[in-house]
Amino acid sequence: MPKNINVLFLAAEAEPFVKVGGLGDVASALPRALRNLPADVRGDSVLDVRLVLPHHGVVKADARPLAMFPLEREGRDVMVQVSETTLGGMPVYLLSGGPITSVGSVYSSNPAIDAEKYSFFSLAALELPRVLNWNVDVIHAHDWHTALAVYAMLLKRWTGATNGVASVLTLHNLPYMGADVTDILASYNLPVAQTDLPDWAHALPLPLGIFSADAVVAVSPTYAEEILTPEFGCGLEDFIHRRREVLHGIINGIDARAFDPATDPAIPHQFTAENPAIREKNKTALQEKLNLPVDPVTPMIAMVGRMDVQKGVDLALNVLEKITDIPWQFVLLGTGDPALEEAARKLQMEYPGRVRAELRFDGALARHIYAAADMLLMPSRYEPCGLAQMIAMRYGCLPIVHATGGLKDTVTDEVGFVFKSATPRSLRTALVKALSVYPDRGHWRALQQTAMRKDFSWAKPAREYFELYQTLLDKKES
Ligand code: GLC
Repeated sequence: MPKNINVLFLAAEAEPFVKVGGLGDVASALPRALRNLPADVRGDSVLDVRLVLPHHGVVKADARPLAMFPLEREGRDVMVQVSETTLGGMPVYLLSGGPITSVGSVYSSNPAIDAEKYSFFSLAALELPRVLNWNVDVIHAHDWHTALAVYAMLLKRWTGATNGVASVLTLHNLPYMGADVTDILASYNLPVAQTDLPDWAHALPLPLGIFSADAVVAVSPTYAEEILTPEFGCGLEDFIHRRREVLHGIINGIDARAFDPATDPAIPHQFTAENPAIREKNKTALQEKLNLPVDPVTPMIAMVGRMDVQKGVDLALNVLEKITDIPWQFVLLGTGDPALEEAARKLQMEYPGRVRAELRFDGALARHIYAAADMLLMPSRYEPCGLAQMIAMRYGCLPIVHATGGLKDTVTDEVGFVFKSATPRSLRTALVKALSVYPDRGHWRALQQTAMRKDFSWAKPAREYFELYQTLLDKKES
C-alpha cells in the first residue's frame, strides 16, 4: 500500500505570487521539490504537498474562490475566504478576511499590525485541512509569521484534536520573532501556556513555535549550531539548547532549472561550465549597460540583495573605499536601509569610474550581474543560509564570504574565498587575495568550473525534509 504523506506549507510569501526575500524562494521551490521527489527516494510514498499564503493586496495570482469559513474572535465569527490557484500542479490556497485586506503589503513597519494579520492567518490556515476535508499529516510552518499555527496545534493536541499530525517549523531568521501576542491569543480564546521560555519571550510567536514544534529546522547545519551560542542565539540559546534533540539543520537549495546560465533568457550570452570564457561578453554588455569603462581585465565585484546591516553592506563599502592601489569595479544591486543606500551613493560619487549603486529590485539585472561579475561579496554578519552565493557559483561568479551559517556550509577555498570574522580587516584580506588570484586566468577558470559544477539543487535538501517527515510520522504511529 502506498503511504500518502499530506503536508501543508504555511508561509508569508512565495514566488511568483509575492516575494520580498529568500523565504519567498524557499516556500515556492521546496514544496514542489518534495512533490517531485523521484521514486527511488520516496519509495511507495506519495507526497501531496500544498501551500497556503495570505492573500495580501500585492499578491499576483489568477485565483478562484473555493470556500468560506468562520473563525471565532471575541465571541464573533470573522469570515475567512479561501481562493485556490496552482503552481506547477501544486494547489496553492490564498486566505483573506479579517486583518488580511486587499490593501495590505507583506510586511508593514508596524509590528502590531503584522502581529494581528499573521496570528489570524496562522489560526485560519490551521483550520484549512478540515474545511477542505483533506487529512493533513504534517503542518510545516516558516518563520515567526506562521509559528503560531504550530503553537495552536500543540494546544489542540492537548484536547486530542490534532493527534497524529506532526509539526515542523523552519527557521529562516531567528532574530525576527514577532510582537507580544498575549491579547491577540486571548481574543481567539487561546491561553499563553506555561513554558520554559525566558520571560521576555514567553508570548512571542517564534519562541512559542519553537517550544511547540515536533521538529525545528534551521536552514543550514552551521546555523543550527550557531543558534545554540550567545552570539547568534538572540537570548534563546539556553532554551533552544534544551530542545536540541528536535533541532535539525537542512541547507536550502536553489531552483537549478530556473537558475541555469545555459538557458537563462535574462542574460545576453548563455554559457556552461565547458565554455566559461563566454562570460566575458556578458561583462562587456554589463559595463556598457551601466556606463562603466569597458575593460575585460578589470575585476568586477558585485553585491546583490537586501541592503541590511545583517548583510554587512557597510563593511563592504568601507573596505572597497580604501583599496585604491588595485583596479576594480563594483556593482551593487538592491534596496533597503536608507543609511546604507546613502553610503552606497556616496561611494559612487567618490569613484564614478568604478562604482555603480543600482538601488532597486531588478531580478533580470541580478541574473546579468551573476553571469558577468567576477566576484560576489557576502560579508554577512550572520546568514542562516543565503541563496545569492549559490546562484553566483552556478553562474561562475566566485563568492567572497564570511564563514557563518549557510555561507560556511556552501563555500570552500575550491570555489571561492572565505574569511573568519565579519570585520573590515578580515574582509579586506580575503578581497585582496581574490584580486591577486584573479590575474592568473588558468587558476581562476579552474575555480569557476568547480563552482559551476557543484550541485546546489533541491534534490538533497528535499530528501532530508522527506526523511524528517517520515521519522516524525513513524513516531506518531508507534
Ligand atoms: C532569510 C535568511 C537567509 C536565507 C533565507 C531563506 O532571508 O536571512 O539567510 O537564505 O531566509 O531561508
